[in-house]
Amino acid sequence: MYSQALNAQTAVADASPEGVRFQARVEAEDRIEPNDWMPEAYRRTLIRQISQHAHSEIVGMLPEGNWITRAPTLRRKAALLAKVQDEGGHGLYLYAAAETLGVSREELVDQLLTGRAKYSSIFNYPTLSWADIGAIGWLVDGAAIMNQIPLCRCSYGPYARAMIRICREESFHQRQGYEIMLTLCRGTPEQKSMAQDALNRWWWPCLMMFGPPDSQSQHSDASMRWKIKRFSNDGLRQKFVDASVPQGHYLGLTFPDPELRFDAATGHWIFGEIDWTEFRRVLAGEGPCNRERLAARRKAHEDGAWVREAALAHAAKRCASVRAAA
Ligand SMILES: [Fe+2]
Ligand SMILES: [Fe+2]
Repeated sequence: MYSQALNAQTAVADASPEGVRFQARVEAEDRIEPNDWMPEAYRRTLIRQISQHAHSEIVGMLPEGNWITRAPTLRRKAALLAKVQDEGGHGLYLYAAAETLGVSREELVDQLLTGRAKYSSIFNYPTLSWADIGAIGWLVDGAAIMNQIPLCRCSYGPYARAMIRICREESFHQRQGYEIMLTLCRGTPEQKSMAQDALNRWWWPCLMMFGPPDSQSQHSDASMRWKIKRFSNDGLRQKFVDASVPQGHYLGLTFPDPELRFDAATGHWIFGEIDWTEFRRVLAGEGPCNRERLAARRKAHEDGAWVREAALAHAAKRCASVRAAA
């Protein structure tokens, strides 16, 4: 679903002939491909960003997967099932894109399961009611789209191409979420209050999805120069607020922010202070569901061991028969 505000290593521009040629290609909007020369820091930054993004897609299946058996109608169940499967597919494209940079899938999965890799903080919040599925589609996938549309032009070819396909699916996710919210808001007062409660709980964590404020995001210079990242965290966050507030008002809902107001001079919605202490706490593993999420992933990995073993045994057998025939 989404890449947490990336923390590219702050790297000084590479003045070697290869480094200069590389930067010129980036400036010319040429795509860098797996076998092309690239600075080591560029490779490391991409591995970290793409793998964090892949982990977020996979962990992101959990809060919504929790509601597949309880979806209120067959139509809702089919749409939710398709959405959760899409997220699994996004994770797979992204692991494959990261592998083109010379890291193995096993290593990446191990980093997630041992808690060494990060994933988006948003998935450490619980889904308490059906309305949360609406709020997640509308806001979490909505925030993901804001973050990911610029990544379709990322300088690294395999990542950019994966993002084009992912963004198409994310826009379906956003619409199905908003449609759930619309149905609830046009339903009984009880349904509308479920939608309001979901918005109240998800709004601030969604604003945190864009990462720390620009004043504290020390690593984005290199990513901007390499054209991995094109907009700042604060710029994307503002775009998201400007797009989402009128949508919430159309639903007849209010936002849990007493300072929210439209500024006619700039044409932007001004919002209150984000609780960055909560953000850091959740990222550090102390969110409401961090332990539960990792435990679920570890169990899935253990339960799937026989599939990996069978696939490896099958591949070894095929290799042996090809060799025997040669
Ligand atoms: Fe996704
Ligand atoms: Fe999504």
